[in-house]
Amino acid sequence: MAALRASTVLLTGSNRGIGLELVKQLLGGPRPPAWIFATCRDPEGPQAQELRDLASRHPNLVLVKLDVANPSAIADAAKIVEGKLNGAGLNLLINNAGIYAQVSLETVDSDEMIRTYKTNAVGPLLMAQAALNMLTKCQALTYGEAGILCVALHPGWVKTDMGTQEADLTVDMSVRGLLSVLPVLSEKHSGNLLNWEGKVIPW
Ligand SMILES: NC(=O)c1ccc[n+]([C@@H]2O[C@H](COP(=O)([O-])OP(=O)(O)OC[C@H]3O[C@@H](n4cnc5c(N)ncnc54)[C@H](OP(=O)(O)O)[C@@H]3O)[C@@H](O)[C@H]2O)c1
Repeated sequence: MAALRASTVLLTGSNRGIGLELVKQLLGGPRPPAWIFATCRDPEGPQAQELRDLASRHPNLVLVKLDVANPSAIADAAKIVEGKLNGAGLNLLINNAGIYAQVSLETVDSDEMIRTYKTNAVGPLLMAQAALNMLTKCQALTYGEAGILCVALHPGWVKTDMGTQEADLTVDMSVRGLLSVLPVLSEKHSGNLLNWEGKVIPW
């Protein structure tokens, strides 16, 4: 299995669920990134205890406060990351943060629709925009003028707070799959939706 070679990685929603497991497996992989920027809404809060424990043992893990639904928080986080990287650039942005409202068409209200859209659609786009400024030359050379390889990955139905314990996959299996898909991606996958096993899902 090919190993992921990203040396600077930023993840959103990394305090629990799939995000936290991504951090753990990136740190424990054969080629741990030089920097992992693990962002979450409340790095000081109780839900980030495991992340803080990891950071205390891994100097390459930096916790950054970031709410993807808040554009000024994205700008603040980008400044912190840029300062730390000192011009080195980001290799990989993992837009993991997301919400899933357990509501039906009959019960959903406009506030819930807007909250979901801001978190799941606008947030990742604003993150991509902020990351554009931090692209590495290496990526630009590999992926041409646009400079970015952008894919959507489906983690499967995963046992997390969102997926519930009824789900098919453990978080360990899903994240192992996702991290084995990343190194084999090339420009032919750009714009695709792939699952955790690397199979293309038609849009
Ligand atoms: N689990 C599944 O079966 C499944 C299936 C398909 C897709 N996914 C996708 O996989 C991703 C991770 O899901 P998961 O199962 O790990 O969910 P989860 O256990 O509910 O965790 C969601 C994460 O997103 C964070 N988050 C939510 N809103 C945020 C915001 N505005 N800014 C920053 N962080 C925010 C949460 O932070 P807080 O602790 O601050 O709330 C938490 O860290 C999501 O994008 C989800 O849509 C999951």
